[in-house]
Amino acid sequence: MIFLTLICMSFGLHLGFGCHPICQCAGKIFLCQENKVVQIPQDIPRNSTELIFMLTKVTVIPRGAFSGFEHLEKIEISQNDVLKSIEGNVFANTPQLQEIRIEKANNLVSIDREAFQNLPNLKYLLISNTGIHFMPTVSKIQSFQIVVLEIQDNINLKTIEKNSFVGLSLENIAVRLNQNGIEEIQNHALNGTHLNELILSGNQQLTKLPDHVFSGADGPAVLDISKTRISSLPAFGLDNIKRLIAKSAYYLKKLPPLEKFSELIEANLTYPSHCCAFANWKREISILHPICNRTFDYMDGNSDPSDKRSTQDEYMFSGGTSFDQMEKEEEMFFDYFLCNEIRDVSCFPKPDAFNPCEDIMGYNTLRVLIWCINILAITGNAVVLIILVSSQYKFTVPRFLMCNLAFADLCMGIYLLLIASVDIQTKSQYYNYAIDWQTGAGCGAAGFFTVFASELSVYTLTVITLERWHTITYAMQLERKVRFRHALIVMISGWIFAFTVALLPIIGVSSYLKVSICLPMDIETPLSQAYIMFLLVINVMAFVVICTCYIGIYITVRNPNVVSSNSDTKIAKRMAILIFTDFLCMAPISFFAISASLKVPLITVSNSKILLVLFYPINSCANPFLYAIFTKTFRRDFYILMSKFGCCQKQAQIFKTETSSSAHTIHGRNGHYVPGPKSSTGSVYTLVPLNH
Ligand SMILES: *[C@@H]1O[C@H](CO)[C@@H](O)[C@H](O)[C@H]1NC(C)=O
Ligand SMILES: *[C@@H]1O[C@H](CO)[C@@H](O)[C@H](O)[C@H]1NC(C)=O
Ligand SMILES: *[C@@H]1O[C@H](CO)[C@@H](O)[C@H](O)[C@H]1NC(C)=O
Repeated sequence: MIFLTLICMSFGLHLGFGCHPICQCAGKIFLCQENKVVQIPQDIPRNSTELIFMLTKVTVIPRGAFSGFEHLEKIEISQNDVLKSIEGNVFANTPQLQEIRIEKANNLVSIDREAFQNLPNLKYLLISNTGIHFMPTVSKIQSFQIVVLEIQDNINLKTIEKNSFVGLSLENIAVRLNQNGIEEIQNHALNGTHLNELILSGNQQLTKLPDHVFSGADGPAVLDISKTRISSLPAFGLDNIKRLIAKSAYYLKKLPPLEKFSELIEANLTYPSHCCAFANWKREISILHPICNRTFDYMDGNSDPSDKRSTQDEYMFSGGTSFDQMEKEEEMFFDYFLCNEIRDVSCFPKPDAFNPCEDIMGYNTLRVLIWCINILAITGNAVVLIILVSSQYKFTVPRFLMCNLAFADLCMGIYLLLIASVDIQTKSQYYNYAIDWQTGAGCGAAGFFTVFASELSVYTLTVITLERWHTITYAMQLERKVRFRHALIVMISGWIFAFTVALLPIIGVSSYLKVSICLPMDIETPLSQAYIMFLLVINVMAFVVICTCYIGIYITVRNPNVVSSNSDTKIAKRMAILIFTDFLCMAPISFFAISASLKVPLITVSNSKILLVLFYPINSCANPFLYAIFTKTFRRDFYILMSKFGCCQKQAQIFKTETSSSAHTIHGRNGHYVPGPKSSTGSVYTLVPLNH
């Protein structure tokens, strides 16, 4: 309209200023653009084809304001902030009227039920940015044309009642209800229409489409529910939908059974996992419409059908565009849909390496392994924890540390159990559960557990190794002995540390790890990258400390005065195993960290699961054996506990005797012991376990 105004001003010669004292005429266009205009002028030339009231101060459009305009094709009323009501019979009996625009009149609250009547040529009706509370009544329009009805940006429009569009046109209609305040659409709202298009995009309060919303309507062929809070699609009437658009429809987590979408050709959705549902779903088109031969003729000339669709989309009916063109496009659009041989649904966003169409455990081998591994980790650590806690011997620093380690590793086992159970539950339909799982509490909890467990485990391992090294190095200096309260303080810090680190992803710092199993991996954000790098640095530091301690221990115990050189190799082997398992355990983190630093995903989600299931929990499975079950002290405690239940009396007796004698011996038997301070009987846990 600004364009038009400019034309009017610069070609003043063509304007019939004489046609009206205030408003202007340009040929058959009558333009009122003055705030002096407070009511619709009585003396508009009856032969006008276009009436434009812009920036006027008309408060009421009175009954019959435009009657008698035989040739009127277009009416526009815009940018009027005082307009309050449109009375009955205003847009009535104007046989040539094609286009009505009512825009930017935010005080317009009332449009009479009889305002629109008998408009056989109406093609476009726009009511945008007004204060209306109800859908204008369109039932008496009775157009013979394809009608596009755009009711948008009306924030007070909350309800679409039943039969709201019946009578608008005998032809197809497109109903575009973008960005209103719609909260409810009633059943049968679209009754009695040939509905090409229903656009509900941007109605952020809309949570539901009732099951019978499309009942009585022939359509819609295009349904757009983008940017709404709709959480489920209606049970009936989906079979007409050819194109479903649900971008940023985050609440639509589950799709109805695919068989309901018998005509669907294109889906633009929010979650890639939903496209998995369509990926292997093929249908056969039953009947080819006779019109198709013709269609293919003109498809040949311009072979990219998607161009046509997007043109149709962007068709804005701005002044001057011919409606014939629109009809033609509409026809081509639907012909394309009818005749293009349907093989499968083209669905966006496509699943990719990071949002794969697979179950949580993509491979069956992995599914079996994760169960073995979690059972091993849970039973191993639970047994160790029970034996350690129930031991009747003094609660020493090493035993305390071992308890912490077993607890951390038990958490890891529980994490794996959680993942494995969700996998079983969602097996072969993960795509329908993916969103709930990924965005729900379960995934958050799993993420917390795994980071907490792995960090506490790494921390405790480091502390245990340091304690061993310290005990062995200062074996003879009792004043330098690690006291229980020291260990307690160190471990409390460890818990706080692990807890904090694990909490970070939950408060949104990173979706690392929790994600590689339950969410698309998000290594792009700088914060997330920093977090992964931080984890890597912590783990590398721990690894370096552990290695250094072992080297220190090795140097100490190599001293021929202390231990026979024969067992050297045994100590070296044991240490190599410990270091190697630690190293493997770090592999997944390293991979993610290197990926993050290079900003390239080096590894797909499917493969990262192999790392996560096989390598990540290695320590949790191995620790109970390497640090407890294979040690003599543990076996002593085990047999003593068993003897309380009446079995293994004999073994328990042997251990009891041995322990009491070894308390007086500095040198271990068979070179298995490295000297420990006399006073700590239970310190055997602190030694590099050499048996087995
Ligand atoms: C419209 O009608 C008026 C008389 O009411 C006449 O003067 C004018 O020329 C007509 N305009 C056109 C474009 O036919
Ligand atoms: C649907 O519309 C038809 C007229 O087209 C009407 O007879 C019928 O009562 C309407 N159904 C409902 C449930 O309102
Ligand atoms: C649908 O998805 C395709 C591919 O991502 C995109 O090009 C197109 O613009 C989308 N259409 C809509 C209406 O969002």
